[in-house]
Amino acid sequence: MKRLLIDYKGNRYLIDEGRDIHTKYGVVKKEDLAKVKHSGAVKSHLGKDFFVVEPTVVDYVEEMRKPAQVVYPKDSSMIIGLTGIGSGSLVVEAGVGVAGLTMALANAVRPEGKVVSYEIREDHINAASKNLAAMGLSKYSEIKNKSIYDGIDEQNVDMIVLDLGEPWLAIGHALKALKVGGHLVSYSPSVEQVKKFVLALPKDFREVRTIEFILREWEVSSERMRPNTRMIGHTGFLTFARKVC
Ligand SMILES: C[S@@+](CC[C@H](N)C(=O)[O-])C[C@H]1O[C@@H](n2cnc3c(N)ncnc32)[C@H](O)[C@@H]1O
Repeated sequence: MKRLLIDYKGNRYLIDEGRDIHTKYGVVKKEDLAKVKHSGAVKSHLGKDFFVVEPTVVDYVEEMRKPAQVVYPKDSSMIIGLTGIGSGSLVVEAGVGVAGLTMALANAVRPEGKVVSYEIREDHINAASKNLAAMGLSKYSEIKNKSIYDGIDEQNVDMIVLDLGEPWLAIGHALKALKVGGHLVSYSPSVEQVKKFVLALPKDFREVRTIEFILREWEVSSERMRPNTRMIGHTGFLTFARKVC
């Protein structure tokens, strides 16, 4: 089981049970971690405080190993929030990568819904499957080793999300698979991809809009309140389109 360890400075460590955790503030012993059932405090061998909590999907995606580019919670929360998917929704996505977005989607549609992912790389399917299993999300997910450019098997789909190089090649398949009122979403790092995708959308899609979500955190203390000097730079553009007929 995965756990999230937070040190007294706020540094976070996604950890497996049954191992000593070596940090710059000392070693947290596996025996001490085992005593904490769900959440609680432990001390390192240097007497520093650490806190143990159960990781959410957001914690997991932020802290997991990322051999491939992932959609971060900043953008996955917009996809989920602006399309209104929830328990019972049927969602299709491509590609799965290491399941950064898949985990957020599966968490949103459970326990009644499902996410079907199309992915052409077997190594990514394996990494994604491990990540989904680690968060107990496998039963809300199915991964197909198939190119989405060759077709979508599902029907009456609530939302299709495309995070791959040439999303415009999947528009025709998405139109057939989506239910009327369903959402097509494309996540692209470059604005050239956005333009090509939007210009390829047929009139069956309306409410087309492209957004870039810029997140700026603030430092708040008794001494000063000001925007954080460091912020997340560009991640990607999100284009939303709704099938209306
Ligand atoms: C940027 S990654 C996706 C990252 C993923 N959304 C996440 O959050 O972890 C793009 C993925 O699309 C896959 N891919 C590329 N072309 C594809 C296609 N035609 N059909 C399905 N998957 C494809 C790639 O192998 C890669 O894993």
